[in-house]
Amino acid sequence: MCQLLHIAEIRTAFPALHQNVFNKPLVYLDNAATTQKPWPVINRIKQYYEFENCNIHRGVHYLSQQATEAFEHSRRTIAAQLNATASHEIIFTKGTTDSINLVASSLGRLLLNGGDSMLITGMEHHSNLVPWQQICEQKEAKLMVVPITDKGEIDLEQYQKLLEKNPKIVAITHISNALGTVNPIKEMVRMAHVYDIPVLVDGAQSVAHTRIDLLDLDCDFFVFSGHKVYGPMGVGVLYGKEKWLERMPPYQFGGEMVDQVGFDKTTFNKLPFKFEAGTPNVGAVLGLETALQFLEETGYDAVSVHENILLNEATAKLSEIDGMRFIGEASDKAAVISFLVGAIHPYDMGTLLDKMGFAVRTGHHCAQPVMDRYDIPGTVRVSFAMYNTLEEVNRLVEAVRKATLMLT
Ligand SMILES: Cc1ncc(COP(=O)(O)O)c(C=O)c1O
Repeated sequence: MCQLLHIAEIRTAFPALHQNVFNKPLVYLDNAATTQKPWPVINRIKQYYEFENCNIHRGVHYLSQQATEAFEHSRRTIAAQLNATASHEIIFTKGTTDSINLVASSLGRLLLNGGDSMLITGMEHHSNLVPWQQICEQKEAKLMVVPITDKGEIDLEQYQKLLEKNPKIVAITHISNALGTVNPIKEMVRMAHVYDIPVLVDGAQSVAHTRIDLLDLDCDFFVFSGHKVYGPMGVGVLYGKEKWLERMPPYQFGGEMVDQVGFDKTTFNKLPFKFEAGTPNVGAVLGLETALQFLEETGYDAVSVHENILLNEATAKLSEIDGMRFIGEASDKAAVISFLVGAIHPYDMGTLLDKMGFAVRTGHHCAQPVMDRYDIPGTVRVSFAMYNTLEEVNRLVEAVRKATLMLT
């Protein structure tokens, strides 16, 4: 089977992969929760704190100007890589959750009134559900939910019907972290735009696996976290179309986001600073830029082909285990496999796999409504990244088989 990536070489870039847990070589399969970090990202952050550390946008001195230029360079690089129209449409946040809270609070305040509605889907992470639920409660608006099918796909007929009810905002995940479903996101954006409804796309699970072209996707907002794309924790991106960001009120208040401040009145800074109150996580932003460059240099197409090979091989081999049940069997899937075996509790399976050196996730994956939809307490979730190997897949299958025998 042809692998386009030089996996051995890639693995040398990730120090955390080369360790034992419980005297077994670590097999890291919890990439949907967070990815490991390559040396270039670690070194970039180290270099910042060693030599470049300074607060940005405020100082006239050398270090401050250098740090400001590096920070703004990251914004330009990320905007170009995602094909945003302008770099001021890229707002740095703490992560996906922070980005969604910003949009829910600010756009929600702008667009939602009593009696209005907005639309999410039945497969959202709690981060793309609870912030909307809260703003809907405050505004006495209705939160409508597009149902999902048994296979774990969005019911597009129902989506169309709910769009006809005139929701003021649509918020959808690109890829489900619990099911692995890749939603037909471009088509869903197009369908909402027929009614002039702005769409937020939760890209937390997509940026590490597929090239994002914002101009082509045409969504109004796109959000993701650094730590899921081989970058640092504590940093994320909110992309928003200028026409919306200009209209939206600021979300947080303080230094940097202001223009003129008096005791009577304050005016606000221009984009993107209007939405970046306080000192940002400069080192993490630089690390995120490096992480996205690392992905670009590795090659999105090669990563995607490789992860698909792992997904197909793991799915085929795991399906041979007696009692195997997959949760999420969409026709278009990312490299995420959620499963249950017979009556074995996912926590028991996860604990045994852990003792054998496999880092997998168990539980509801912050998507309790998805678990309710299938009437299950949770799943065991395996999620692949560019550095996982077919050998690891084979070892996983043997380990699941062994754990199944021990637990039944
Ligand atoms: C689809 C999806 N949305 C949102 C989030 C929240 O991301 P973060 O915790 O980095 O803010 C996650 C994290 O697992 C996710 O998978």
